[in-house]
Order: sequence, then structure tokens, then C-alpha cells
Amino acid sequence: MSVDPQHLAALRQDYSLAPLRRSDLLPDPIPQFLLWLDQARKAEVIEPNAMVLSTVDPEGQPWSRTVLLKACDPSGFTFFTNYQSSKGTHLANHPKAALTFWWGPLERQVNITGTVTCTSVSESETYFQSRPIKSQIGAWASMQSQIVPDRTTLERQFQEVEERFPEGPLPLPPHWGGFRLAPKSIEFWQGRRSRLHDRFRYEKQSSGWALTRLSP
Ligand SMILES: Cc1cc2nc3c(=O)[nH]c(=O)nc-3n(C[C@H](O)[C@H](O)[C@H](O)COP(=O)(O)O)c2cc1C
Repeated sequence: MSVDPQHLAALRQDYSLAPLRRSDLLPDPIPQFLLWLDQARKAEVIEPNAMVLSTVDPEGQPWSRTVLLKACDPSGFTFFTNYQSSKGTHLANHPKAALTFWWGPLERQVNITGTVTCTSVSESETYFQSRPIKSQIGAWASMQSQIVPDRTTLERQFQEVEERFPEGPLPLPPHWGGFRLAPKSIEFWQGRRSRLHDRFRYEKQSSGWALTRLSP
């Protein structure tokens, strides 16, 4: 079914799956997040660990794109990328970012803000070595975010890397690794009827987490 632009204004969904009450939430947002992530996985959300990462360039312009969450523990939310990509250079200059998860079948959103640091080289190495060989080749072959004249160039670069490392597995590229976002705030959003959604935000305090309900 095609979407007629004139009908966009009429596209809307009323949410009714479940309420979210303060008493449903754990005192710590990290186990709470892991619980929701697991529920998204069980609900067969496609790529439940996909998250929109927003960064800011030196002009203050925000940019967003999807990346995959690869680890989550009390120290933060970890993803892997090319350090020389747009997001990589944004984060090197301005190490604050935001993450958004949208799990449609569960009518849930999670919004996270915080400060980003690079993972250790050994952590990046361990994750890189766990990736399929073709993905390892891709990380060496692609100058992520740079202009490329055509698809043939990309495929040639891929082939050159394959020929350079015929034995595999490949070493960790110096321009590739992880970032970990240490959360400052984590908001849990549950869709409700008539746009009266439930929103709860945890904010990091020196003594733990403060939890408040927000107006939808
Ligand atoms: C579902 C999905 C998952 C993705 N996961 C990653 C990822 O984990 N790391 C990554 O660098 N790019 C990932 N990408 C590609 C990014 O969205 C983006 O195109 C790329 O990182 C370049 O972004 P940049 O030019 O803003 O730095 C993913 C894209 C999609 C749609």
C-alpha cells in the first residue's frame, strides 16, 4: 500500500497494550532496560538492539543514524564503529550523545543521554575478532562516511583487503573500535490511549538514580 502524502496527517495509532506504573519499574534503570530489551527480543522485534544514535557536529548540528548495541552493563551502552566516520569525529570533538530505541510491537521507546568514551583497544579487539570474516574485511575496506565514486570502487577495495589478508582472521583496524555511553538519564516510554502516554525518567545523582514521571 502506498502512502499518499495527503493521508500522512491521518496516519495515527492509538496505543493500548499496557500501562507503565512507577511500581513496575526497578530501582536501577540498567536492569530495567535489560528487561525491556529481552521482552523486545521475545516479541520478535527486528534487531531489538538497534538504536538511533544522535551526535552533534562542530556547528551544533545534530545528526542521527542507527547502530547496534553490543554490550550493556552498569558502565554503559556500547556500540562499535569506524572512529574516522562522521559519528566518530563528532564524538571525538563533543563526547555527548543520545540514544533512542523504538520497539513498535511493544509500543515502547527508551531515550538515553550521556557522555561517551572509547572502549579499550583490548575490548575492541575482542569484539572485532568475534565478527564474521566478511564483516572484518568490510571494516578494513570501507572509509565510512567518505564520498565514494561508485559501487565498483567499494567492491574493488573489499577485494583488495581480501587479497591482502588471504589467511584471515584480520587484525583490528586502527580506525575501528567501540564507544561506550555512560548514561546520565534514561527515559522509559509506554504508549497509552489518547496520547496520554506513560513516561518515567531516571536521572543520575551522586547517590544513585532519581525517578520522576513526565507529562506525555
Ligand atoms: C539496523 C542498522 C544497524 C547498524 N549498525 C551499525 C553499527 O553498529 N555500527 C556502524 O558503524 N554503523 C551501523 N549502521 C550504519 C549506520 O546507520 C550509518 O550509516 C554508518 O555508521 C555511518 O554513519 P555516519 O556517517 O553518521 O558516521 C547500522 C545501520 C542500520 C540500519
